[in-house]
Amino acid sequence: MRIFVAGATGAIGRPLLTQLLLKGHEVVALTRSPERARMLAEQGVEPAIADVFDADAVKAAVIQAQPEVVIEQLTSYPKTYTRESMSAAAVLNTRVRKIGGANVLAAAQMAGVRRYLKQSIAFWAVPGTGLADEETPLAFDASPAVAADAHIVTEIERCLLAASNLEGIALRYGFFYGPGTWFAPDGDVANQVRQQQFPIVGNGAGVWSWLHIEDAAAATVAAVERGNSGIYLITDDQPLAVREWLPAYARWLNAPLPPHVSVEDALRIGGADTVYYGTQMRGVSNATAKRELNFQPRSLEWMVNAAVAHAN
Ligand SMILES: NC(=O)c1ccc[n+]([C@@H]2O[C@H](COP(=O)([O-])OP(=O)(O)OC[C@H]3O[C@@H](n4cnc5c(N)ncnc54)[C@H](OP(=O)(O)O)[C@@H]3O)[C@@H](O)[C@H]2O)c1
Repeated sequence: MRIFVAGATGAIGRPLLTQLLLKGHEVVALTRSPERARMLAEQGVEPAIADVFDADAVKAAVIQAQPEVVIEQLTSYPKTYTRESMSAAAVLNTRVRKIGGANVLAAAQMAGVRRYLKQSIAFWAVPGTGLADEETPLAFDASPAVAADAHIVTEIERCLLAASNLEGIALRYGFFYGPGTWFAPDGDVANQVRQQQFPIVGNGAGVWSWLHIEDAAAATVAAVERGNSGIYLITDDQPLAVREWLPAYARWLNAPLPPHVSVEDALRIGGADTVYYGTQMRGVSNATAKRELNFQPRSLEWMVNAAVAHAN
């Protein structure tokens, strides 16, 4: 298939291009950077240079590419995962996802694209017991940044699924880990854990759903080839509470065990969103992706090591 990828040079875009090429797809990839365009060309990808805020340039790039499928992985997240960096990046990130994404979607509709896949997020299911699925309402009453993101995700997915003349697929990815992510050994969260700046909040009951970046790419390729219109939760098989995954992650990094902070202190230091992630976040089920995409995610890297160490 001929596939146009926006957001092709980010953490998920890089392994995605490799896997698309390996499956024999022809790939056109968008970037703002002439330097990255040269690297894409060396890899066997056709580069297209445009900024997603330039609607005319995006339209021209997609129409010229004549793709059958568009994959949109646009984000503007910071290299660090802190309260300050995330809130500083939030406005631009939202603009890239909403306005930039809308420009790519409009261009795809104009170019007669058959199928459109878009990056979405699995973190905002309303807190409760058991795993959330694709039908579970989102946490509109949660802490401020979480509630804002729940609204943004809803709006972006609504526009995609209502778009006429194409099959829209929203891929709600779990927490990325692996090369190029915050959780890689050279990533920002690993550094925070080494410095004991990433604590267990309260009872540590917030449940995180994980996704290796290569598995995110594999699920995306499967959705390109055989996904149905709608929403897929793309996460691994074992959502884990912070009190389980964080000590294992610290051991895997050879870092000191994470400190504990009370909910009151976390509210004061990190704010309500820190408490949501640490104590309230709900894990999600990947059953639909496993059934319809034959998705087979790997086990969380540092839990595998923890199990082996325990067995010895
Ligand atoms: N679910 C998750 O856990 C999740 C999801 C996303 C990101 N993250 C994390 O966030 C961190 C940064 O991620 P990242 O490297 O993917 O993000 P990034 O550096 O923001 O890259 C995102 C992609 O969007 C493109 N882009 C951004 N603004 C654009 C614009 N105005 N016009 C055209 N293209 C634009 C970039 O292309 P060019 O720069 O080449 O133009 C790049 O390909 C990583 O640690 C990652 O794991 C986590």
